Amino acid sequence: MKNGKNAVCRSAEEFGSASGLPFSRDTAPLLESVAAGGIAAPSRIVYQPMEGCDGDPDGSPGELTVRRYSRFAAGGPGIVWFEAVAVMPEGRANPRQLSLTEKNIGRFSRLVGEIKETAVKSGNREPLVIMQATHSGRYSKPRGTPEPLAARRAPVLEAAGEPTVVTDEYLDRVGEALVASAALAERAGFDGVDVKSCHGYLLSDLLAARDRPGRYGGPFENRTRLLLDAVRGIRAVCSGRFAVASRLNVYDGREIPDGFGVGKDGEPDFDEPARLCSLLSGAGADIVNVTMGNPYFNPHVNRPFASGSYDPPEAPIDGVRRILGGAAEIKKAVPALKVVASGLSFLGAAAPGVAAAYIGAGAFDFAGFGREAIAYPDIARDIASGRGADPAKICLCCSKCTEIMRKPGGTPGCVVRDAGVYLPIYKKLCGKDGQK
Ligand SMILES: Cc1cc2nc3c(=O)[nH]c(=O)nc-3n(C[C@H](O)[C@H](O)[C@H](O)COP(=O)(O)O)c2cc1C
Repeated sequence: MKNGKNAVCRSAEEFGSASGLPFSRDTAPLLESVAAGGIAAPSRIVYQPMEGCDGDPDGSPGELTVRRYSRFAAGGPGIVWFEAVAVMPEGRANPRQLSLTEKNIGRFSRLVGEIKETAVKSGNREPLVIMQATHSGRYSKPRGTPEPLAARRAPVLEAAGEPTVVTDEYLDRVGEALVASAALAERAGFDGVDVKSCHGYLLSDLLAARDRPGRYGGPFENRTRLLLDAVRGIRAVCSGRFAVASRLNVYDGREIPDGFGVGKDGEPDFDEPARLCSLLSGAGADIVNVTMGNPYFNPHVNRPFASGSYDPPEAPIDGVRRILGGAAEIKKAVPALKVVASGLSFLGAAAPGVAAAYIGAGAFDFAGFGREAIAYPDIARDIASGRGADPAKICLCCSKCTEIMRKPGGTPGCVVRDAGVYLPIYKKLCGKDGQK
């Protein structure tokens, strides 16, 4: 395969061998139940956090939010990794980002209950639901326009202007907010919390803050302090039946030369990420969800695409191989952690076979589906039934969901496979015919 652009048109088997990725016809490993901390996921299929920017102004789930999770639940994953939920109002990525508070906990609790009920009524095993707790840092837009709160100066990321660099005292408060949010999440019925440390948001930004003075900058132990303290704090206040996780960037990408996990040659250097994962495990974390890149700056690293806003400097399949390889490296370095791999959607109908081959070999524990989950929410059921992924339903990696997300007020979803709801939104906001 030259550039992988026709990947989604290939048959699963042909794709597996043409890509150089391992491939197994036997997808049974994806259906095994797995213990994570004090709880167990009924399968190894994870629906990744997929923000819809469609909450109510007070941060409660809105109509489209509830619809998304109902579709996910009916689709039968082992883990519904619930999208980014802001822990501080000024750290919201958009005015409709979800935010869990004492006031709206009832709305979240109802939604978690509905996810579990819908799954069971649809004939699936009850999934775990893990909430992603976030502070959007330099990508904060609580009122719809940028109000960046960075952990460090990073000129390469600051074309639009200088961010405010937050103080150590502010970061102390972020840590407290993460712990408080996890306690609320457990009360709301979530099975676990993810201390989000990826994609350039605040905790991810901090991991690369080598030039920052003070308690949270400079040496590795300072840059990782907030994440590790948050995990320890959550462990201290939440029960043993509550999973603690982190969605972690193990490589920011060569486009961010001073980024986390970036070696001198621009290639991944997993030394610090693996050390951090070992410390995370020691601090009481159960799961690491491995991801890479910055969706605002080098989205081809984060979500390898077939078409997008620019021509990526590499074949998308190379991006997929990098993410899956990164997950395998982390698992090898810290076997005690359960590891989720990201970036599978570009593999289309071949993704289950590729994930099964990695998982069958013990390379990582969970197969994460991001864009695929919104395009084809029934993919987990179709894998479980033995039918396999239907090539007519798979995500085309056309980037239209991301395009909607970048528009003010945009509520992303799949323009192609869920056209009844999202094509009109796409046409209105992006002014284009979504079929092209
Ligand atoms: C519309 C959209 C919303 C997303 N929301 C989140 C989010 O809330 N939290 C997160 O960690 N990643 C988020 N992501 C990234 C995905 O979870 C995933 O890492 C990425 O799409 C690559 O995986 P895939 O190839 O399976 O799509 C989002 C991606 C898209 C396209």
